[in-house]
Amino acid sequence: MPASTTPQRKIFVTTALPYANGKFHIGHIMEYIQADIWVRHQRMGGHMVHFVGADDAHGAPIMIAAEKAGRTPQQFVGEIAAGRKQYLDGFHVRFDNWHSTDSPENTELAQGIYRKLKAAGKISTRTIEQFYDPVKGMFLPDRYIKGECPTCHAKDQYGDSCEVCSSVYAPTDLINPYSTLTGATPELRSSEHFFFKLSDADVVEFLKGWTQGSNAQGQPRLQAEMARKAGEWFEAGMNDWDISREAPYFGIEIPDLPEGAPRKYFYVWLDAPIGYLASLKNHFDKGQAKDHWHEASRTPLGFDEFMADPAVEQVHFIGKDIVYFHTLFWPAMLQFSGRKTPSQVNVHGFITVSGEKMSKSRGTGIDPLKYLSLGMNPEWLRYYIAAKLNGRVEDVDFTAEDFMARVNADLIGKYVNIASRAVKFIPDGLLAESPAHPKAAGLVAQIRALYESRDYGKALREIMAFADEVNLGFDSAAPWKLVKEGKRAEAARVCSECIEAFKIMTACLKPVLPELAAQAEAFLNAPSLDWSNAATPLGAGHQVGSYKHLMQRVEDKQLDALFEPPAAPAAPEPEKVVPGGEELAPTITIDDFTKIDLRIAKIVNCEAVEGSTKLLRLTLDVGEGRERNVFSGIASAYKPEELVGKLTVMVANLAPRKMKFGVSEGMVLAASHGDEKAEPGIYVLNPWPGAQPGMRVR
Ligand code: 2FM
Ligand code: ZN
Repeated sequence: MPASTTPQRKIFVTTALPYANGKFHIGHIMEYIQADIWVRHQRMGGHMVHFVGADDAHGAPIMIAAEKAGRTPQQFVGEIAAGRKQYLDGFHVRFDNWHSTDSPENTELAQGIYRKLKAAGKISTRTIEQFYDPVKGMFLPDRYIKGECPTCHAKDQYGDSCEVCSSVYAPTDLINPYSTLTGATPELRSSEHFFFKLSDADVVEFLKGWTQGSNAQGQPRLQAEMARKAGEWFEAGMNDWDISREAPYFGIEIPDLPEGAPRKYFYVWLDAPIGYLASLKNHFDKGQAKDHWHEASRTPLGFDEFMADPAVEQVHFIGKDIVYFHTLFWPAMLQFSGRKTPSQVNVHGFITVSGEKMSKSRGTGIDPLKYLSLGMNPEWLRYYIAAKLNGRVEDVDFTAEDFMARVNADLIGKYVNIASRAVKFIPDGLLAESPAHPKAAGLVAQIRALYESRDYGKALREIMAFADEVNLGFDSAAPWKLVKEGKRAEAARVCSECIEAFKIMTACLKPVLPELAAQAEAFLNAPSLDWSNAATPLGAGHQVGSYKHLMQRVEDKQLDALFEPPAAPAAPEPEKVVPGGEELAPTITIDDFTKIDLRIAKIVNCEAVEGSTKLLRLTLDVGEGRERNVFSGIASAYKPEELVGKLTVMVANLAPRKMKFGVSEGMVLAASHGDEKAEPGIYVLNPWPGAQPGMRVR
């Protein structure tokens, strides 16, 4: 372990646990790079770090996605988890452990924390009314309920707010609500829910102090803007937090329920952050945390002992959308279950691509795996993202031109080039006596402090300013001229200074560019660089290796390929069988389908339409207590009297259409061949006996 001026810290670092229902997008990668740089910086200071992640596996959306995919939730999240490594390895993000919230460790920890909270009197129960889908047999989360906006009457609005008029309401306020899972009308049902009593005076008191206070290292736990935000939340008042969900739910069972009582589960956001602890525990239990020992017996420390050590810091990196969970629910859960609370919650903004906001579920702009498959260097992205980040909660914008400029002009033009230019004038790579760079120690200390405060952009700007000075010095000394003038020793001295400076810059860039730094260390024949040796000169007589090109430039065509939209699906083969003489329409979702309200209709009357050879006028009963007038182009196939009294199927929510002969209030379903030359005929749909007018067809 390298010597360090500060006592060795023991730090447990996490990034937000990604939902296990999708691949990583560029937003995830940005967060992982931010945390990975910080971790590497800590390790360069000789500190002990455990950096862990996990999949956030539970919750209704994952359960439903798994069902749609024809998998068990466990299979579904397992398949997603198997895809994580290629991203993490690909971008040199080195978690010490990756686990899952759907794990025995998490079950044990979540149930244990819940029991402690209960014993501390912080759990209450209350009966609440919620929408229930009688077809699916489950309570509906708000996002699965739609209906007509109570304010502007726009149709198909979500259960919490209207996308048309932006009004906010409860799902029970919707007019004609329906379940987006089945189309069924939801029913209000009561059930008992468990609450974490966040509104208790001692909880609020604790949170006020915690959010506004400093940690054991004397740093604020939250960034200033986040502490202010928390202050606003307190002013608005704390509500108790509903932590339970009814079966069916993919989650952890709430323990100790009375015998025979219905099973209940923890809401996914209760067990998600506990997943941080579960992953760390799994890491310790696997014997991977080898650097922690009982000094006397030299036996390994366990997870519980590690977490009980007051010196251990717990640091979370998260995005600005999940601050409430991490600065209120999470510290309160830990505090009132007698555990260590986070030392720091570091919040970052979103990444936009050319100014366009990215959707959390779809991702956008840059596909990380495509980036890698195009052979683009992962360290370009690490460098670019680092160059854009600071310690505040600001969004980061990726643009292709800016990316190219930073990588090619700064990283390669300024840093990499120094080595290639200078080494040529050092005979046999043997460094000459050169004075220690006057700025070395100061620069290293400054860069170190900037990494500590996550002001990576400023760190890189300072390193590049130093590179500018070094390049300027090289140009004005003009070693190629010195050589021509026979001043070889002078040229070697100037260039040795440049190589020493290159070494300092390599150390300073190492948290961001670990692979490039490793190659540079090999070229320099330097020991592994860290903060303790970064400013120490390699010294006269030290022999560096021969220079091999360290990094390629980004090319325009790579960025063009990266942003090229995915190829459209190939056109159908001409010899393909086309069912019914007509191509299948594009795929729709179940949501699209449920927009069409099909009903059983009784044809109570049917007559020819004067002046039309195609149309029949149908009078339909759809069980509404009134009759509808519908024109249908079936006169060539049916005589009116054949249809009277029959049942059929109609589109009941089609907007009324004014026709030459009157208004048509819907459409009757009939089958026909798409190719007019094929067997002619129109066949009106007729349900099996037993169907009643007004029944929905789904
Ligand atoms: O917002 C999200 O993507 C959540 N899966 C983050 C969870 S972070 C932690 F609490 F697990
Ligand atoms: Zn509205």
